[in-house]
Amino acid sequence: MDIARPRGEVADLLEGGHRQERFRDIVLPEVTLDLLSRIVRENRARAELEQWQVTPRRRLLFQGPPGCGKTLAAAVLAGELGLPLMTVRFDALFSRFLGATANHLRLIFDELPRRPGVYLFDEFDAVGQRRAHEQDVGEMRRIVTSFLQLIDTDRSASLIIAATNHPELLDRAVFRRFDVEIGFELPNAAQLAQLLALRLTPFDISKTFLKQVAERVSGLSYADAARACDDAIRAMVLDGASALSESYLVCALEDMHRKHERRAASSPSK
Ligand SMILES: Nc1ncnc2c1ncn2[C@@H]1O[C@H](COP(=O)(O)OP(=O)(O)OP(=O)(O)O)[C@@H](O)[C@H]1O
Ligand SMILES: [Mg+2]
Repeated sequence: MDIARPRGEVADLLEGGHRQERFRDIVLPEVTLDLLSRIVRENRARAELEQWQVTPRRRLLFQGPPGCGKTLAAAVLAGELGLPLMTVRFDALFSRFLGATANHLRLIFDELPRRPGVYLFDEFDAVGQRRAHEQDVGEMRRIVTSFLQLIDTDRSASLIIAATNHPELLDRAVFRRFDVEIGFELPNAAQLAQLLALRLTPFDISKTFLKQVAERVSGLSYADAARACDDAIRAMVLDGASALSESYLVCALEDMHRKHERRAASSPSK
């Protein structure tokens, strides 16, 4: 049996897969990396911890702006622990029919003890946002309540990760259920340079140069910077060039930076 592939009704609700990502693939502040690697070690030491009636921390709330590594960090935890990453499909989770969403949640939580994995409720604020937009406040209450009950009664070895850009939309009662909250932030220049070095490993580009360009494009997310690296490589290939000269990288990063500034200007509230 492929342990990453759920069957039956729950198959539509979860997307599962084994992950190759490891700590070497992610750039984060030292404290965040330490915390994540500590969580991995705790989960590996589950049996020893249980001898002392202690469990590893396994309910994690990831928060922070887009493109800063929340989803990637969930994949890294899955990869490091050798567990499948089971992503909850929010489009399938929510139903127009009364009670069906709560039932879907129950089906997902039934899987946790059966199929050990890292269960990712990505874009978790969908729950809170829907409450703001939808007429049926009562139904949304029920969903939050059943989520809280399910998370309280779950004693499985699976990890539960909820990721959100909008922690302010979440109930305080939801926050309390998590063992750890981890904040993800936009990279500083040194972290941006580290990301560039990681993405451009095959090319011979000096670290000093990467640091300099990173300083000129501050404000970019890790995801934007990664995308700019891909753009630079595309331009190099289409030009028939055999090496990624520094100018390809500067052009792509500055393009991305301009786009980013325009986006920021058109949505001043962000
Ligand atoms: N901290 C990081 N280190 C290395 N690469 C990163 C990092 N953050 C983002 N990336 C790159 O950007 C891509 C998208 O990032 P990711 O999906 O993890 O962002 P996110 O924080 O989950 O954003 P969103 O809030 O939009 O879901 C990753 O697959 C990776 O290529
Ligand atoms: Mg994400």
